[in-house]
Amino acid sequence: MAVSLNEKYLTGFVTPDEVEKISHLTRAAYRVVNDRSGVGNDFLGWVDLPVNYDKDEFSRIQKASAKIQKMCDVFVVIGIGGSYLGARAAIEFVKSPLYNNKKKDTPDIYFAGNSISASSLADILSICEDKDVCINVISKSGTTTEPAVTFRIFRELLEKKYGEEGARERIFVTTDKARGKLKEFSTDKGYETFVVPDDIGGRYSVLTAVGLLPIAVAGIDICDMMNGAADAREKLNNDDVATNPCLRYAALRNILYNKGKSIEILVSYEPAVQMFCEWWKQLYGESEGKDNKALYPSSVIFSTDLHSLGQYIQEGLRTMFETVISFTSSNDSVVIPDDPNNIDGLNFLSGKELHDVNKMAMTGTLFAHNDGGVPNLVIEVADRSAFSFGYLVYFFELACAVSGYMLGVNPFDQPGVEAYKKNMYALLGKSGFEEQKAALEARMK
Ligand code: PA5
Repeated sequence: MAVSLNEKYLTGFVTPDEVEKISHLTRAAYRVVNDRSGVGNDFLGWVDLPVNYDKDEFSRIQKASAKIQKMCDVFVVIGIGGSYLGARAAIEFVKSPLYNNKKKDTPDIYFAGNSISASSLADILSICEDKDVCINVISKSGTTTEPAVTFRIFRELLEKKYGEEGARERIFVTTDKARGKLKEFSTDKGYETFVVPDDIGGRYSVLTAVGLLPIAVAGIDICDMMNGAADAREKLNNDDVATNPCLRYAALRNILYNKGKSIEILVSYEPAVQMFCEWWKQLYGESEGKDNKALYPSSVIFSTDLHSLGQYIQEGLRTMFETVISFTSSNDSVVIPDDPNNIDGLNFLSGKELHDVNKMAMTGTLFAHNDGGVPNLVIEVADRSAFSFGYLVYFFELACAVSGYMLGVNPFDQPGVEAYKKNMYALLGKSGFEEQKAALEARMK
């Protein structure tokens, strides 16, 4: 398996017996996913997606990515939440957080439309000024304000730069197959469009065109990525709680939650995993945070955060557990040189691979945090390849669905996200929100 679970650092916090005791619940939740009998069951398209995807669209994605690679220096991906996190996570995970700064024959990639910050957008616009630009606007609903406003701004920029005809060649749209303003608009303008399948919600959509087009533009092999997810689908789709790491992960986080742990911290010792942690936070936060319950998903990158949040984790409130993503091998090799004078006293490290030193930092931290009363689960991943990324995505998606059903929530809706949107529309004077506007203004006095 490309991914396995190491439960050694749960000793003293959870016994194998406890996993066994709730295995009927874990199995039942898995079966609800598998036989599609639970709430939100019309959003289970991701379960078979790794083998059951639209092959024609997949090859159109490959063609479009090759065209984009040739046509531009800068590729701007406009989207928010599930419409950008997966692609950004994949690019940093497989390539590097410094992807844009590295020598390469693929375009720089910037993510816009995930905030309404004028400064952040102005920065990207100024980068685009003297560059050849293509854009991919991604919105399943086609109505989300942040990407919609950003798209309007970039459309104007491209039309000014290349004329309407030229802009058409450089604008790629990923949205619903039939519904929404963005779809209507793209059909009118004749933009090349890709589909977010009806039965796949935003945060489960990284292996659809939503993630695949930007990921392919970055030069990552999307066939490998789908193969990784397909391998996970094959290996993890069974209800054997004793051996299935995905079901054990769902069960263990449920047990820890019921023991009073309210925070799960996803940990990695690779900065390249930071955006993957953001993707994971959205997946678990939006899927489970309902009805005043669920673990709060948080994340850290070590060693960096050992020198900021490390103190709290070691000795603060005992309400958290850690899930550590550990890589067997590193994508890169850096060896610590020998210094004949040993002026820094570091010759005990001479000739060692930095990856091995990093591993020792991890093991040391695991024991320290255990001693401080923090349970740790370790998810062992082979490497940071496209294959492993696909595998890990499927692992966490399936575990999230099982975990959500164990918790008793619908893991596929996000009603709470609407609250801020309605207030924002009201405050901005959108028609239909007049009453809400008056009520908010009264509260602001
Ligand atoms: O998981 C989800 O459904 C959400 O996070 C969406 O991805 C996010 O709100 C963006 O929505 P849309 O793609 O409709 O613009």
